[in-house]
Amino acid sequence: MINAFSDKLNALVDGIASDGLAIVDDFLLPEETDSILALDEFNSSLLQFKKAGIGQNSHKQINESIRGDYIQWIDRETAPAPLLNYLSKLKELITFVNQSLFLSLKDYEVHLTNYPTGSYYKRHLDQFKKDDHRKLSVICYLNKDWKDADGGQLRIYHQDREQDVLPLAGRLVCFRSDLLEHEVLPATRPRMSLTGWILDQYVGLKHL
Ligand code: OGA
Ligand code: MN
Repeated sequence: MINAFSDKLNALVDGIASDGLAIVDDFLLPEETDSILALDEFNSSLLQFKKAGIGQNSHKQINESIRGDYIQWIDRETAPAPLLNYLSKLKELITFVNQSLFLSLKDYEVHLTNYPTGSYYKRHLDQFKKDDHRKLSVICYLNKDWKDADGGQLRIYHQDREQDVLPLAGRLVCFRSDLLEHEVLPATRPRMSLTGWILDQYVGLKHL
């Protein structure tokens, strides 16, 4: 029998191995993205989300001119079912990537993300200068009926070209955190996603 999810994971591994990047549509199904968007965190105003900073721990800075998104880290001990469903798919992804590419990725960290209308994230690399434990960036978008004209593309800078990715509901983008610079272009409507990293060490609850 054809297992659609394992086909998606196969495509993902092929993309990472060849380009450092994979785009997998329908990683989450419409009913799954709906149930995530219906969570209080996405509906009870931006106040629940913290303004995202730049850098780690005591070096963290808030700099509106570099990034304008609001984030809230997911606590896997208390996360509601729709988020646990996503995290369990991520765990399957990690197991599959480890087996296929002979890696030993160990853990993940994920936050809810809201880019208010007009906000952006300037060109950057996801690995911290002093902490290279982020190996793969994984972003799953939640935005229904997103059109080119809405903006908000993820722009990926390959060595020889740029690639723009629309933040379509259910779409997962996964790329090498050490390799690919990228930016988020401003959008004409709020832009929601689950943003995470796959790590080569255990993090536990360091964000909480
Ligand atoms: C990030 C980031 C890209 C996106 O949060 O580091 O680059 O498409 N996000 O949301
Ligand atoms: Mn990034």
